[in-house]
Amino acid sequence: METDNIVIRHARIIDPSRQLDRVGDILLGGGEILATGRIGVDRIPDGCRVIDGAGLVASPGFIDLHCHLREPGFEYKETIAAGSRAAAKGGFTTLCCMPNTEPPIDNAAVVEFINQRARQDSLVRILPIGCVTKGRKGHELAEMEELASAGVVAFSDDGDPVYDANLMRLALIYSSDLGLPISNHCQDLSLSCNGVMAEGPVATHLGLDGIPAAAEEAMIARDITLAEATGGRLHVAHVSTAGSVPLVREAKERGLSVTAEVCPHHLTTTDQWVFGGKGEPTAAAGGLAYDTSTKVYPPLRSQRDVDALIEALSDGVIDCIATDHAPHDLTSKQVTYQEAAFGISVLETALGSLLQLVHNSKLSMGAMIDRLTTGPAKVLGESYADLASMQPGTPADIVLFDPEQEWTVDTSEFESKGRNTPLEGTVLKGRVVATFTSGSLVYQGPGLKIEEPHAKS
Ligand code: DOR
Repeated sequence: METDNIVIRHARIIDPSRQLDRVGDILLGGGEILATGRIGVDRIPDGCRVIDGAGLVASPGFIDLHCHLREPGFEYKETIAAGSRAAAKGGFTTLCCMPNTEPPIDNAAVVEFINQRARQDSLVRILPIGCVTKGRKGHELAEMEELASAGVVAFSDDGDPVYDANLMRLALIYSSDLGLPISNHCQDLSLSCNGVMAEGPVATHLGLDGIPAAAEEAMIARDITLAEATGGRLHVAHVSTAGSVPLVREAKERGLSVTAEVCPHHLTTTDQWVFGGKGEPTAAAGGLAYDTSTKVYPPLRSQRDVDALIEALSDGVIDCIATDHAPHDLTSKQVTYQEAAFGISVLETALGSLLQLVHNSKLSMGAMIDRLTTGPAKVLGESYADLASMQPGTPADIVLFDPEQEWTVDTSEFESKGRNTPLEGTVLKGRVVATFTSGSLVYQGPGLKIEEPHAKS
C-alpha cells in the first residue's frame, strides 16, 4: 500500500522555534509534521517511505525574504519555475519575491498573476512583495491597501531606494496600519553616484569608482528617524557595512519596529574578490580581476565589515539571512565591470557558503538555522510562524542537509537560469540532500538514502 507518509530516521533535528537540537525521527503525512522524537516501529504506518537521516541535519525549510524571480518581464534571466527549483535545491521552501519585474508588482493584477504562476509552476511557496511607489518610479505611492488585500507580504522598491523622504514617511505610516514591513534598499544615490564596487584601496587599485559606506548608512539613519516619527514598520534590506550595525542595534534598543537582513555573500566574500583569485592573497599575481560576477548591490566590502556583520548576525542584531538571489543572463554580465548588471545568483550556494561560518566556529549551527527560519518568519509576522516550526500539526516544510558533504560549485548544473556567481569552481562543505514542501519531496540530492514503500511484515 502506498501512502504519503515519510519517516526520517536518526537525523539531528534543529527546530529553533522550540530551541530543539536533538537526534530523533520525524514522521510526515498529509502534508504535515505528525510527530518528532523517537518514533517506534509500531507508530510507522504501512507503506511509509523511510529516509536514513543519520549524519544529516533536519530543520524547517529556509525562508528567503528577498529574492528576484524576474517573472513577469525578464523570463530570460529567471522564471518562477526555475527559481523555485533552485530554491528547493538550496533548501528554501518559502521565497518572497521582489517587485522589480516588468510590469512591476504595483497592482493586484500582477500579484494575482504571480500567485497563479506559483500555483502552476512552483515547487515552493511564493510570497510576493509589492512596490512602495507606482512603477517603482519613486514619485507617487502605489495603492498599498490594494496590494495588501491582494496578499503581498511587504513593500519594497528594491533595486532602487525609496529616495524621496516624504514618500518613505507616508509609506511607513501605511505600514503600521497595514501591519506589513517596508523593506528599503538603502542607497543614497547622491553618495553612491556611479560607483560599481566598495570604496577603498581595492577600488583605487583597480581604477573603479567606489561606493562609500555612507551611501548605505545615511539612508538607514534617515529611515530609522522616519520609523521613529511614524511608528512604522521598517525592514532594512541587505545590510553590508560595519557602520550600519550600531544604527540598527540602537534603533532596536529604543524599541522601534526595525528589523534587518544580511546576505550570504556579505558574510563570506570581500572586495578582494573583485581583485580576483576568489579573494586569496595571491590574487594579484594570477587571479581574474574585474570578474563581473562579483558586482552586486550593495557591494562586497572589507573584511572588517564582514566580521562586524557576522557578529551582528550571531548576536541577533541582524534578524535574518536573505539571499538577494539576483539571476542575470550572460550578456548582462559578459561586459566591462562598469557596464555589468548588479547581482549574484545565490539560492543554490547559500547553505554551503554559510556553513563555512559554522565550520570555522564564527556562527553556531543553531543561530544559522534560526536566521534562515524563525528570523525571517518573525519579520513576516505571527501568521507565518508555522512555516518555521517542526511542531506536530505544522506544514511539513523541511530541509535535510549533510553539513560535511563537499561539492564543487558548477554553474552548468544550476537549476537557476542565473549562472552569475563568483563561487564557480569553489569547493563548499555542506549540501542539501532533500527538501519537502507541504510534505512533498521537491528535491532529492546526492547522498539521500530513501527506501521505497514497503509493508510491515
Ligand atoms: O545586486 C543587486 N541586484 N542588488 C539589488 O538590490 C537588485 C538586484 C537585481 O534586481 O538585480
